[in-house]
Amino acid sequence: MHYPLRAILRRNKAGKTASINSDRLPAHIAIVMDGNGRWAKRRGLPRTAGHQAGMEALKRVVRAAAELGIKVLTVYAFSTENWRRPQNEVEFLMRLPSEYLKTELAELKSKNIQLRLAGELEELPPHTREAVKKALSETAANTGMILNFALNYGSRAELVQAVRKIAAMVAEGRIKPDDIEEKTVESFLYTAGLPDPDLFIRPGGETRLSNFLLWQSAYSELWFPKIYWPDFNRHHLLEAIATYQNRDRRYGGIRL
Ligand code: FPP
Repeated sequence: MHYPLRAILRRNKAGKTASINSDRLPAHIAIVMDGNGRWAKRRGLPRTAGHQAGMEALKRVVRAAAELGIKVLTVYAFSTENWRRPQNEVEFLMRLPSEYLKTELAELKSKNIQLRLAGELEELPPHTREAVKKALSETAANTGMILNFALNYGSRAELVQAVRKIAAMVAEGRIKPDDIEEKTVESFLYTAGLPDPDLFIRPGGETRLSNFLLWQSAYSELWFPKIYWPDFNRHHLLEAIATYQNRDRRYGGIRL
Protein backbone atom coordinates (compact mmCIF):
# COMPACT_ATOMS: atom_id res chain seq x y z
CA MET A 1 0.00 0.00 0.00
CA HIS A 2 1.36 3.43 -0.87
CA TYR A 3 0.65 6.64 0.94
CA PRO A 4 2.63 9.82 1.53
CA LEU A 5 5.09 9.03 4.29
CA ARG A 6 5.18 12.52 5.66
CA ALA A 7 1.56 12.10 6.70
CA ILE A 8 2.16 8.89 8.65
CA LEU A 9 2.13 9.03 12.41
CA ARG A 10 4.20 6.48 14.22
CA ARG A 11 2.56 4.47 16.96
CA ASN A 12 4.91 3.73 19.84
CA LYS A 13 4.84 0.73 22.18
CA ALA A 14 2.46 2.44 24.59
CA GLY A 15 0.00 2.86 21.74
CA LYS A 16 0.58 6.60 21.60
CA THR A 17 1.41 8.28 18.32
CA ALA A 18 4.51 10.33 17.70
CA SER A 19 5.24 12.21 14.54
CA ILE A 20 8.48 12.33 12.62
CA ASN A 21 9.94 15.80 12.48
CA SER A 22 10.54 16.37 8.78
CA ASP A 23 12.90 19.27 9.56
CA ARG A 24 15.31 16.99 11.43
CA LEU A 25 15.62 14.01 9.17
CA PRO A 26 18.94 12.17 9.10
CA ALA A 27 20.72 13.32 5.94
CA HIS A 28 22.47 9.99 5.49
CA ILE A 29 21.17 6.57 6.54
CA ALA A 30 23.41 3.51 6.32
CA ILE A 31 21.96 0.00 6.48
CA VAL A 32 23.54 -3.42 6.99
CA MET A 33 20.95 -5.64 5.33
CA ASP A 34 21.47 -8.58 7.68
CA GLY A 35 19.45 -11.66 8.51
CA ASN A 36 18.50 -12.88 5.03
CA GLY A 37 19.90 -16.36 5.61
CA ARG A 38 18.17 -16.83 8.96
CA TRP A 39 14.90 -15.46 7.55
CA ALA A 40 15.06 -18.17 4.87
CA LYS A 41 16.13 -20.93 7.26
CA ARG A 42 13.20 -20.22 9.56
CA ARG A 43 10.92 -20.87 6.59
CA GLY A 44 12.75 -23.98 5.45
CA LEU A 45 13.95 -22.15 2.33
CA PRO A 46 17.44 -21.93 0.79
CA ARG A 47 19.56 -18.93 1.83
CA THR A 48 19.21 -17.50 -1.67
CA ALA A 49 15.45 -17.13 -1.09
CA GLY A 50 16.36 -14.89 1.84
CA HIS A 51 18.54 -12.71 -0.38
CA GLN A 52 15.75 -12.51 -2.95
CA ALA A 53 13.34 -11.37 -0.22
CA GLY A 54 16.03 -8.97 0.99
CA MET A 55 16.05 -7.39 -2.42
CA GLU A 56 12.30 -6.78 -2.16
CA ALA A 57 12.89 -5.11 1.22
CA LEU A 58 15.53 -2.92 -0.39
CA LYS A 59 13.04 -1.81 -3.05
CA ARG A 60 10.53 -0.82 -0.33
CA VAL A 61 13.09 1.06 1.71
CA VAL A 62 14.56 2.94 -1.28
CA ARG A 63 11.04 4.11 -2.19
CA ALA A 64 10.26 5.14 1.37
CA ALA A 65 13.56 6.95 1.91
CA ALA A 66 13.22 8.88 -1.34
CA GLU A 67 9.63 9.84 -0.49
CA LEU A 68 10.72 11.10 2.91
CA GLY A 69 13.46 13.25 1.46
CA ILE A 70 16.49 11.38 2.78
CA LYS A 71 19.57 12.69 0.95
CA VAL A 72 21.81 9.62 1.04
CA LEU A 73 21.00 5.95 1.60
CA THR A 74 23.97 3.58 1.76
CA VAL A 75 23.23 -0.14 1.76
CA TYR A 76 25.71 -2.94 2.43
CA ALA A 77 25.01 -5.34 -0.43
CA PHE A 78 28.25 -7.36 -0.50
CA SER A 79 31.34 -7.10 1.66
CA THR A 80 34.95 -7.86 0.79
CA GLU A 81 34.58 -10.75 3.27
CA ASN A 82 31.47 -12.17 1.55
CA TRP A 83 33.69 -13.73 -1.17
CA ARG A 84 34.35 -16.48 1.43
CA ARG A 85 30.75 -17.75 1.13
CA PRO A 86 29.93 -20.87 -0.94
CA GLN A 87 30.37 -20.27 -4.66
CA ASN A 88 26.67 -20.70 -5.48
CA GLU A 89 25.72 -18.04 -2.91
CA VAL A 90 28.37 -15.61 -4.19
CA GLU A 91 27.15 -16.16 -7.75
CA PHE A 92 23.57 -15.54 -6.66
CA LEU A 93 24.51 -12.36 -4.79
CA MET A 94 26.45 -11.13 -7.82
CA ARG A 95 23.33 -11.47 -9.96
CA LEU A 96 21.21 -9.35 -7.61
CA PRO A 97 22.50 -5.90 -8.64
CA SER A 98 21.59 -6.49 -12.29
CA GLU A 99 18.28 -8.07 -11.28
CA TYR A 100 17.50 -5.11 -9.05
CA LEU A 101 18.46 -2.62 -11.73
CA LYS A 102 16.51 -4.45 -14.43
CA THR A 103 13.26 -3.62 -12.65
CA GLU A 104 14.24 -0.50 -10.67
CA LEU A 105 16.51 1.58 -12.90
CA ALA A 106 13.57 3.22 -14.69
CA GLU A 107 12.10 4.18 -11.32
CA LEU A 108 15.43 5.49 -10.00
CA LYS A 109 15.62 7.66 -13.09
CA SER A 110 12.03 8.90 -12.85
CA LYS A 111 12.56 9.74 -9.17
CA ASN A 112 15.79 11.65 -9.88
CA ILE A 113 17.77 9.18 -7.73
CA GLN A 114 21.50 8.96 -8.35
CA LEU A 115 23.19 5.60 -7.97
CA ARG A 116 26.70 5.51 -6.56
CA LEU A 117 29.08 2.75 -5.73
CA ALA A 118 31.24 2.22 -2.66
CA GLY A 119 33.65 -0.62 -3.36
CA GLU A 120 35.96 -2.03 -6.00
CA LEU A 121 34.04 -2.28 -9.27
CA GLU A 122 36.84 -3.87 -11.28
CA GLU A 123 36.90 -7.03 -9.12
CA LEU A 124 33.24 -7.83 -9.83
CA PRO A 125 32.16 -10.37 -12.47
CA PRO A 126 31.70 -8.65 -15.88
CA HIS A 127 27.88 -8.99 -15.90
CA THR A 128 27.58 -7.33 -12.48
CA ARG A 129 30.12 -4.65 -13.41
CA GLU A 130 28.39 -3.77 -16.66
CA ALA A 131 24.93 -3.48 -15.09
CA VAL A 132 26.24 -1.25 -12.31
CA LYS A 133 28.33 0.88 -14.70
CA LYS A 134 25.32 1.45 -16.95
CA ALA A 135 23.15 2.52 -14.01
CA LEU A 136 25.90 4.75 -12.61
CA SER A 137 26.25 6.59 -15.90
CA GLU A 138 22.50 6.80 -16.59
CA THR A 139 21.78 8.33 -13.18
CA ALA A 140 24.97 10.42 -12.83
CA ALA A 141 23.22 13.71 -13.57
CA ASN A 142 20.35 13.06 -11.13
CA THR A 143 20.13 15.48 -8.23
CA GLY A 144 17.73 13.73 -5.83
CA MET A 145 18.50 11.05 -3.29
CA ILE A 146 21.83 9.28 -3.59
CA LEU A 147 21.50 5.50 -3.41
CA ASN A 148 24.94 4.28 -2.51
CA PHE A 149 25.52 0.58 -3.15
CA ALA A 150 28.29 -0.78 -0.94
CA LEU A 151 29.30 -3.63 -3.18
CA ASN A 152 32.56 -5.48 -2.72
CA TYR A 153 33.05 -2.98 0.08
CA GLY A 154 35.16 -3.24 3.21
CA SER A 155 36.03 -0.32 5.41
CA ARG A 156 39.59 -1.48 6.07
CA ALA A 157 40.22 -2.07 2.35
CA GLU A 158 38.79 1.40 1.68
CA LEU A 159 41.19 2.95 4.19
CA VAL A 160 44.14 0.98 2.79
CA GLN A 161 43.50 2.22 -0.76
CA ALA A 162 43.17 5.79 0.57
CA VAL A 163 46.46 5.49 2.49
CA ARG A 164 48.20 4.14 -0.64
CA LYS A 165 47.01 7.12 -2.71
CA ILE A 166 48.10 9.61 -0.05
CA ALA A 167 51.47 7.86 0.31
CA ALA A 168 51.96 8.10 -3.47
CA MET A 169 51.24 11.84 -3.32
CA VAL A 170 53.80 12.22 -0.54
CA ALA A 171 56.35 10.18 -2.52
CA GLU A 172 55.80 12.40 -5.55
CA GLY A 173 56.29 15.49 -3.38
CA ARG A 174 52.76 16.75 -4.06
CA ILE A 175 51.86 16.91 -0.37
CA LYS A 176 53.86 16.98 2.89
CA PRO A 177 53.05 14.48 5.70
CA ASP A 178 52.17 17.38 7.98
CA ASP A 179 49.58 18.58 5.47
CA ILE A 180 47.58 15.36 5.77
CA GLU A 181 44.34 16.15 7.57
CA GLU A 182 41.06 14.34 8.19
CA LYS A 183 39.63 15.90 5.06
CA THR A 184 42.58 14.56 3.04
CA VAL A 185 41.70 11.00 4.11
CA GLU A 186 38.00 11.65 3.50
CA SER A 187 38.66 12.83 -0.03
CA PHE A 188 39.99 9.35 -0.91
CA LEU A 189 37.14 7.37 0.62
CA TYR A 190 34.37 5.99 -1.62
CA THR A 191 32.03 8.35 0.21
CA ALA A 192 34.02 11.49 -0.69
CA GLY A 193 31.71 14.49 -0.82
CA LEU A 194 28.88 12.76 1.05
CA PRO A 195 27.81 13.63 4.59
CA ASP A 196 28.69 11.04 7.26
CA PRO A 197 25.85 8.66 8.14
CA ASP A 198 23.66 10.15 10.87
CA LEU A 199 21.83 6.90 11.39
CA PHE A 200 23.30 3.39 11.12
CA ILE A 201 20.74 0.59 11.03
CA ARG A 202 21.50 -3.09 11.40
CA PRO A 203 18.58 -5.49 11.62
CA GLY A 204 19.20 -9.21 12.11
CA GLY A 205 20.07 -9.36 15.80
CA GLU A 206 23.82 -8.77 15.63
CA THR A 207 25.14 -5.63 17.31
CA ARG A 208 28.39 -5.07 15.42
CA LEU A 209 29.61 -2.88 12.58
CA SER A 210 31.19 -5.65 10.45
CA ASN A 211 33.72 -3.48 8.62
CA PHE A 212 31.05 -1.09 7.33
CA LEU A 213 31.81 2.65 7.13
CA LEU A 214 34.13 2.56 10.17
CA TRP A 215 35.60 6.01 9.55
CA GLN A 216 32.34 7.58 8.42
CA SER A 217 30.27 6.21 11.32
CA ALA A 218 32.41 7.78 14.06
CA TYR A 219 29.40 9.73 15.33
CA SER A 220 26.50 7.82 13.78
CA GLU A 221 23.54 6.90 15.90
CA LEU A 222 23.23 3.11 15.90
CA TRP A 223 19.93 1.21 15.79
CA PHE A 224 19.65 -2.57 15.95
CA PRO A 225 16.05 -3.69 15.41
CA LYS A 226 15.34 -7.32 16.29
CA ILE A 227 13.93 -8.31 12.92
CA TYR A 228 15.46 -9.87 9.84
CA TRP A 229 16.13 -7.59 6.89
CA PRO A 230 13.55 -9.22 4.55
CA ASP A 231 10.84 -8.16 7.04
CA PHE A 232 12.03 -4.54 7.14
CA ASN A 233 9.47 -2.10 5.79
CA ARG A 234 8.70 1.62 5.69
CA HIS A 235 7.30 1.54 9.22
CA HIS A 236 10.61 0.26 10.56
CA LEU A 237 12.33 3.08 8.69
CA LEU A 238 10.04 5.58 10.38
CA GLU A 239 10.67 3.96 13.74
CA ALA A 240 14.40 4.21 13.16
CA ILE A 241 14.09 7.89 12.31
CA ALA A 242 11.88 8.57 15.33
CA THR A 243 14.43 6.82 17.56
CA TYR A 244 17.21 8.86 15.96
CA GLN A 245 15.30 12.08 16.58
CA ASN A 246 15.11 11.25 20.28
CA ARG A 247 18.87 10.80 20.63
CA ASP A 248 21.07 13.50 22.10
CA ARG A 249 24.01 13.99 19.71
CA ARG A 250 26.91 15.70 21.45
CA TYR A 251 29.89 14.78 19.23
CA GLY A 252 32.16 14.56 22.26
CA GLY A 253 30.99 17.89 23.65
CA ILE A 254 28.50 18.58 26.43
CA ARG A 255 25.08 20.14 26.34
CA LEU A 256 25.17 23.49 28.15
C1 FPP B 1 23.60 -10.47 4.90
O1 FPP B 1 22.67 -11.43 5.37
C2 FPP B 1 23.18 -10.03 3.58
C3 FPP B 1 23.96 -10.06 2.45
C4 FPP B 1 25.35 -10.53 2.46
C5 FPP B 1 23.42 -9.67 1.14
C6 FPP B 1 22.55 -8.47 1.12
C7 FPP B 1 21.89 -8.38 -0.17
C8 FPP B 1 20.59 -8.06 -0.35
C9 FPP B 1 19.68 -7.69 0.74
C10 FPP B 1 20.00 -8.08 -1.71
C11 FPP B 1 19.88 -6.75 -2.36
C12 FPP B 1 21.14 -6.34 -2.99
C13 FPP B 1 21.23 -5.68 -4.16
C14 FPP B 1 22.55 -5.24 -4.60
C15 FPP B 1 20.11 -5.38 -5.03
P1 FPP B 1 23.17 -12.88 5.74
O2 FPP B 1 23.15 -13.70 4.52
O3 FPP B 1 24.53 -12.79 6.37
O4 FPP B 1 22.10 -13.34 6.76
P2 FPP B 1 22.35 -14.34 7.97
O5 FPP B 1 23.26 -13.63 8.95
O6 FPP B 1 20.99 -14.54 8.52
O7 FPP B 1 22.95 -15.59 7.43
